[in-house]
Amino acid sequence: MLSIDLKGKRALVAGVADDGGYGFAIAKALAEAGATVCTGTWPPALNIFLNLLERGKMDEARRMADGALLVFEKIYPLDAAYDTLADAPEEIRTNKRYREVGDFSVAGLAQRFVQDFGAQPLDIVIHSLANGPEVKKPLLETSRGGYLAAVSVSAYSLVSLVARLGPLMRRGGSFLSLTYMASERVVPGYGGGMSSAKAALESDTRTLAFEAGRKYGVRVNTISAFLASPLGSGITGATIYVDKGYHAMGVAVTAGGIL
Ligand SMILES: NC(=O)c1ccc[n+]([C@@H]2O[C@H](COP(=O)([O-])OP(=O)(O)OC[C@H]3O[C@@H](n4cnc5c(N)ncnc54)[C@H](O)[C@@H]3O)[C@@H](O)[C@H]2O)c1
Repeated sequence: MLSIDLKGKRALVAGVADDGGYGFAIAKALAEAGATVCTGTWPPALNIFLNLLERGKMDEARRMADGALLVFEKIYPLDAAYDTLADAPEEIRTNKRYREVGDFSVAGLAQRFVQDFGAQPLDIVIHSLANGPEVKKPLLETSRGGYLAAVSVSAYSLVSLVARLGPLMRRGGSFLSLTYMASERVVPGYGGGMSSAKAALESDTRTLAFEAGRKYGVRVNTISAFLASPLGSGITGATIYVDKGYHAMGVAVTAGGIL
């Protein structure tokens, strides 16, 4: 079996706030492979996350194959809706979940990395975050505000992360995001502009792979944590489906036939 060795690499997983999501699972897989892992955690979820960690409520999920617990080197506050602190409206900056945590913007995150670890501290950035306030509404009923919020947090946030963390990446570094098939096929129920956001995320992956590839020597892909290792060094600008071929089908099928 091919083993992935990420010893000596530092990863940021943006979008970890509990042990239930993809972000946590990816963080654990990266740590299992030897990487040190930091998180970017949404301020409204930050205290609960820290509490759960401190009280040992996630110890079972944190347990790795060698018996050690997954440890986050740093847990940074991050609201990926804001590129700089000045972009955050007053009611957010003064909100009780935000006011104590310092600069929670993408630029603030970049600054903290440099302060904590020096000029080029990162090898891997995982974008595992999304939010669509009107996700339950069909596109036809989605407001302009809801649509733009979905695209801002779920797609533009990747552009912002690559722009601000690209200069902090060591050569050969890798950005990964998580997409969803609703970008190119109709998935009723995945509304509120989220399908549009995933389409933007995939298109931006290609363009960012081109631009940031040349500028910072990094790769940019969407989905699959395994692409972060040097074993994926030939893959960039790609949307990788890890869905047992489901995306290639026009309709859902079972072993017995069409559903
Ligand atoms: N769940 C699925 O079936 C599925 C399928 C395909 C892709 N994805 C994608 O996987 C990624 C992770 O989703 P998940 O299913 O693990 O859900 P999740 O809710 O566990 O993770 C989303 C994370 O995003 C964070 N977040 C929300 N708004 C944020 C903001 N403004 N700034 C910073 N963080 C913010 C949340 O706190 C949460 O930790 C998303 O991009 C999602 O679209 C999920």
